[in-house]
Amino acid sequence: MHSDSGHTTSVWMSTTEVPQFQPLTQDLRTNVCVVGAGIAGLTTAYLLARAGRAVVVIDDGPIGGGESSRTTAHLTAALDDRYYNIEKLHGEEGARLAAESHMSAIHRVESIASMEDIDCEFERVEGFLFLGGKETRKDLERELEAAHRAGLTDVQLVDRIPFSFWDSGPALRFPRQATFHPLKYLKGLTRAILRDGGRIYTGVHAEKIVDGEPGKITTTAGHVISADNIIVCTNTPVNDWLIIHSKQAAYRTYVVAGRVPKGAVPHGLYWDTPDPYHYIRLQAAEDKSGRELDYEMLIVGGEDHKTGQAVDTEERFVRLEQWTRERFPMLERIEYRWSGQVIEPVDYLAYIGKNPGADQHIWIATGDSGNGMTHGTIAGIILNELVQGRRHQWARLYDPSRVKLKATAEYVRENVNVIEQLKDYFTKGELDDIAALGPGQGAVVGRGRGKIAVYRDESGNIHQCSAVCPHLYCIVHWNETEKTWDCPCHGSRFDAYGSVVNGPAIVGLSRVSRGRKEQKPAASKQ
Ligand SMILES: Cc1cc2nc3c(=O)[nH]c(=O)nc-3n(C[C@H](O)[C@H](O)[C@H](O)COP(=O)(O)OP(=O)(O)OC[C@H]3O[C@@H](n4cnc5c(N)ncnc54)[C@H](O)[C@@H]3O)c2cc1C
Ligand code: FES
Repeated sequence: MHSDSGHTTSVWMSTTEVPQFQPLTQDLRTNVCVVGAGIAGLTTAYLLARAGRAVVVIDDGPIGGGESSRTTAHLTAALDDRYYNIEKLHGEEGARLAAESHMSAIHRVESIASMEDIDCEFERVEGFLFLGGKETRKDLERELEAAHRAGLTDVQLVDRIPFSFWDSGPALRFPRQATFHPLKYLKGLTRAILRDGGRIYTGVHAEKIVDGEPGKITTTAGHVISADNIIVCTNTPVNDWLIIHSKQAAYRTYVVAGRVPKGAVPHGLYWDTPDPYHYIRLQAAEDKSGRELDYEMLIVGGEDHKTGQAVDTEERFVRLEQWTRERFPMLERIEYRWSGQVIEPVDYLAYIGKNPGADQHIWIATGDSGNGMTHGTIAGIILNELVQGRRHQWARLYDPSRVKLKATAEYVRENVNVIEQLKDYFTKGELDDIAALGPGQGAVVGRGRGKIAVYRDESGNIHQCSAVCPHLYCIVHWNETEKTWDCPCHGSRFDAYGSVVNGPAIVGLSRVSRGRKEQKPAASKQ
């Protein structure tokens, strides 16, 4: 499939064709409109359609074309931020509910796949957290105790992970975790949504979202969807201006995947402890007809950095491959290299529930914290209940309006970092002379007191946009790997021609023609 969230291709995209849908051609009235067809949006739509609600899903790209096609799809309750940290901010009961909800999400994916007969290669595996960097056995012991207090009493400290070719040293073993093929799963969800009367439209960009009875979504093409409930599952909310975006930050993360002989590396989930950390899993390889091949794909991720704040994107793949080869001597050639975006909330847990502020009919799911497969599933479970006017025992933990005073230091650190990005207004552009731009390259160029995002396409034509992000006006940076303009402040991204790829921006970069800005912002992906 073709993804609209970047230039690179993941192993999932190249092994699945997702169903295609038509764009919207008229105004609509519905009970529920879900914006975003990733795992959060489709799980929510699936559960509400099952419950008998009239559901419409819109997405401005293809099904799963956002981060759900760029994931590595570890299904785990071994949370990236550690239970001892979660406990500090959310208390022992909060940590217990976090563990319970992530374990339930794994079970829910398994039961949906089984009930709906979705062949998404769901496999139960063990997860191992091993040492790397300056962490010690004491850190593992601390996490072990916190995981036990959170109710994960079957987590154990073991001497090493089960590799004969590499002694990892001590590790925590998390039983009953899982892996799956995320796009095959989403494909199955769309089938079930349609069966239950849901309607799905792709190539439909929500450009304005307004609360009300009913709430209204206006698309770039000018159609209006009126809905009693609007559920914004756009990975990072495109309906919110500041509240949520000051409580979370966007990071880029990188993945390489290469062949290993079948059986050479035990199936499992593996993570080390530094920040950023490495994450590892395997995936069966198959040919186009779905026949399993005699090798598997070793999928390794890491090298994270704040979105729009690194220029060495290509070198990150090189370092990741080197790290992998040093530990996995059986690795043959690398077949895939891709990157994607994760959203880190300052207090480690997703924001799922009613949009903060006065809105009564707008719901959001965001803040994946690197565990978006489970957080997206948890979003579906919670929102299904709340939209139907019921309570849910996890709703308070994930409430988007929550403020954790103990997370103030992280909140200040991330927001000071945002303010620091304003320096870009006072620096020279990345390039003095547009003539130096090669085909397929982009750069920010200073023009008078302004900054222009200039891209030369493969045919040599120059395309120019304002480099000012329409969200809160930071200066975007060129991402050489994904051929996008990335905003260093809250992670908005735009394709090479300025159309918006990721929120929080809801419109594109203003196009510049003959040295002047066009009045209307660039249209979206439609
Ligand atoms: C490299 C990588 C590895 C990861 N590994 C893991 C992992 O191992 N385990 C795990 O649990 N999580 C992992 N994650 C995180 C996880 O993949 C994501 O959190 C999850 O896929 C996000 O799902 P989502 O539904 O919230 O968003 P998305 O999948 O991004 O879906 C959002 C959708 O909204 C659409 N959209 C956006 N704006 C608009 C608009 N204005 N109008 C219409 N549509 C719009 C987009 O086109 C997109 O399809 C990883 C992420 C990355 C990038
Ligand atoms: S994403 Fe907020 S200013 Fe660009």
